[in-house]
Amino acid sequence: MCGIVGYVGGQSALDVVMAGLKRLEYRGYDSSGVAVLAGGGLAAAKRAGKLVNLEKELAERPLPAGGTGIGHTRWATHGGPTDANAHPHLDGAGRVAVVHNGIIENFAELRAELLAQGRELTSETDSEVVAHLLAESFSGDGDGDGRGDLAEAMRRVCGRLEGAFTLVAVHADVPDVVVGARRNSPLVVGVGEDESFLASDVSAFIAHTRSAIELGQDQVVELRRDSVTVTDFAGAPADVRVYHVDWDASAAEKGGYDHFMLKEIAEQPRAVADTLLGRVDANGMLTLDEVRIAASVLREVDKVVVVGCGTAFHAAMVAKYAVEHWTGLPCETELASEFRYRDPILDGRTLVIAISQSGETMDTLMALRHAREQGAKVLAICNTNGSTIPRESDAVLYTHAGPEVAVASTKAFLTQLVACYLVALYLGQVRGSARGDEVRDAVGELAGISGAVQEVLATMEPVRELARSLADRNTVLFLGRHVGYPVALEGALKLKELAYMHAEGFAAGELKHGPIALVEDGTPVVVVVPPAREQAVLHGKVVSNIQEVRARGARTVVIAEEGDEEVVPYADHLVRVPRTPTLLQPLVTTVPLQVFACELATARGNEVDQPRNLAKSVTVE
Ligand code: F6R
Repeated sequence: MCGIVGYVGGQSALDVVMAGLKRLEYRGYDSSGVAVLAGGGLAAAKRAGKLVNLEKELAERPLPAGGTGIGHTRWATHGGPTDANAHPHLDGAGRVAVVHNGIIENFAELRAELLAQGRELTSETDSEVVAHLLAESFSGDGDGDGRGDLAEAMRRVCGRLEGAFTLVAVHADVPDVVVGARRNSPLVVGVGEDESFLASDVSAFIAHTRSAIELGQDQVVELRRDSVTVTDFAGAPADVRVYHVDWDASAAEKGGYDHFMLKEIAEQPRAVADTLLGRVDANGMLTLDEVRIAASVLREVDKVVVVGCGTAFHAAMVAKYAVEHWTGLPCETELASEFRYRDPILDGRTLVIAISQSGETMDTLMALRHAREQGAKVLAICNTNGSTIPRESDAVLYTHAGPEVAVASTKAFLTQLVACYLVALYLGQVRGSARGDEVRDAVGELAGISGAVQEVLATMEPVRELARSLADRNTVLFLGRHVGYPVALEGALKLKELAYMHAEGFAAGELKHGPIALVEDGTPVVVVVPPAREQAVLHGKVVSNIQEVRARGARTVVIAEEGDEEVVPYADHLVRVPRTPTLLQPLVTTVPLQVFACELATARGNEVDQPRNLAKSVTVE
């Protein structure tokens, strides 16, 4: 949450920063602001609301042109989304500008100290204190000894801050310098030709350079046009590794779709195929080289715990079925945000799988840190190269979904599912609990999923029509059993976040224990039906559940595989999906629910890519 951009070079810093902010708006869109250094001074503008408000402000009151600048798009934590609370924050003299992502936990104490010195603070944010502390340290006042060296001043200030923070700052006295500091939330350097960039993620500068450096935990960077200097908070030089970004600007563009979400839904056949790429050998067995946990250690594992948040947690719920099926190991799933607040029983024989698209979700990061402290091995399933969660894990399986820009997760979810199946199968393969032919068959089925998802996408018009017809409803219920249960939860989550409707997902068997009271005449109830071929008993029970809600007036939307004729009499709307094994069925049954939510949100006039109150990457607990 919160997007940060910094630039120093020969182009207009304002143009570069504004274009970068546009790419980062998915990280937060409560307010935005910029600061540029020009003519020996510092000029800043900021506005509450979306970036378009800042663009208007800049059109009415242009800033002077300069080659050094910073910008910020905010997801509010401390202080509401007002002009005053928007970043950048300036020191009292207007010489320093700071943008911040994260939470400074000891800000109240620092604020009181600054107020006692007679300094005037104009916002309610935790971030503003940093501008004042930095100005103090840079000038050599107080206990600061930055004395004309902005990077040193930043290091000293960081030493006083508690909490999670990523900071980027400029000072009018050093017009060719941008400094950044990173603890927890991400910060990436872009290395250009005679220009340098700094951003929360590479999409902000990918149009200019594909050479990047990921800053590590507790590092400070000083950026000039022709140099990038990285140290730790104590000033010791840090090792830096420049890497090549293997996707380009077009991958982060809408590519002709009205919304990124639509584009990302359409990309799913390719994305799920990419997750499999290079992971199957000539014999159809798995070769997960990235899983750097020795086979001997994996053979000793006696319990698996899978954690994640939101959509990633739904992937974790599916993973449980796969792990138990192919490994015979006990598997728990836990919301990452709850995990460390109980007393989870973990030791050196526990494998924790942490699932995260962004790799920056603080709840998940804290869960994995807790797990490692107890001696557990952590395997991350992640979509973002070099992000914090994989860096802090023992091993990582990247999902290779490509950049996901829409706030609501779609292709990341499907690829997380594929990665979970791969990990479960690999564990089974290594431990000998899954036979060779079983692994080969499952891998073969996974290879066919790309085509199956494509088939689903080709038949979505009736789903869109149905969604439009439900635009004025207040409630939609989702039912599923077995792996269909997490799919029901995911369908409900998508609808809540995009259509702002009351939507609930239930395990269908639970219905009679309470939730059926919600069903009234005309209530839309979406039911995910397991394959009758493999799950005859369960299938029969779900068909009964459909009848139960229909008898109470529900308008049923039934998602069932091709050839399932038993459901036909009870379906007011029937959505067909290709035949897949039960375990893999979420890869096809989720897709209509994504399309449904996207269309319903559009019909209700909502912003699909940037739903209210949300941010793509949640870097606070
Ligand atoms: C829902 C959604 C969120 C994320 C959750 C975890 O569409 O996107 O629920 O799944 O915030 O995010 P990551 O996967 O980045 O850890």
